[in-house]
Amino acid sequence: MIKYTIQSNFSFGDISAINFINLGRDDLLEILKIRNDIRVAKWMFTDKEITQHEHFEFIKMLNMQTSKMYLAIKNSNQKILGVISLTNINLIDKSAYIGIYTNPNIDTSNGKLLMEIIKHISFTQIKLKKIFAQCLKGNNKALRFYKKEGFEKIRVVPGYTKKYNKLIDIVELVLTKD
Ligand SMILES: CC(C)(COP(=O)(O)OP(=O)(O)OC[C@H]1O[C@@H](n2cnc3c(N)ncnc32)[C@H](O)[C@@H]1OP(=O)(O)O)[C@@H](O)C(=O)NCCC(=O)NCCS
Repeated sequence: MIKYTIQSNFSFGDISAINFINLGRDDLLEILKIRNDIRVAKWMFTDKEITQHEHFEFIKMLNMQTSKMYLAIKNSNQKILGVISLTNINLIDKSAYIGIYTNPNIDTSNGKLLMEIIKHISFTQIKLKKIFAQCLKGNNKALRFYKKEGFEKIRVVPGYTKKYNKLIDIVELVLTKD
């Protein structure tokens, strides 16, 4: 059951959420471009550019596990609006960690739409009780966004990751299903 859900696509009217493992090569290459774009990469935990080889190996790995799902969100014109993920999916604790990034080449602000889809998949489809987010301390836009979406700050983990040769603190947040 969980393997089936983790490998599924979802649709919400005109909007579709397509699992990375079901995407074609062109879409996967576009996602790699978005993920490596400095406007997105700047806020990820590693500053290393992801190679095409690493990207395709990552997709292969996704096919073989049951605790992670990555989905591209597309509009009715098949444009990629952004990417969402659930990782460390734990069916005992009923929790997971989320990831989110919007396509920086699209002007409209799609964070809210992406978060609605994350909440639907987490709370309605997989029936989780809690979702966690981890955010670089200086990412004020994302922190403000999470707050608006109902997330609460749990703690700051000092020097959690290294970026541009500097140790950086991260903020951990949680959203509990009401
Ligand atoms: C974080 C992200 C998903 C938010 O989506 P979005 O569609 O841009 O969200 P919004 O447009 O609603 O912006 C969020 C809020 O931040 C505010 N904001 C914008 N730039 C800001 C800045 N530099 N500092 C503080 N707040 C900022 C916006 O005004 C908005 O608040 P408001 O609605 O009260 O005005 C998106 O910006 C993104 O993908 N960022 C890059 C990747 C990333 O950081 N992912 C999260 C990793 S933890």
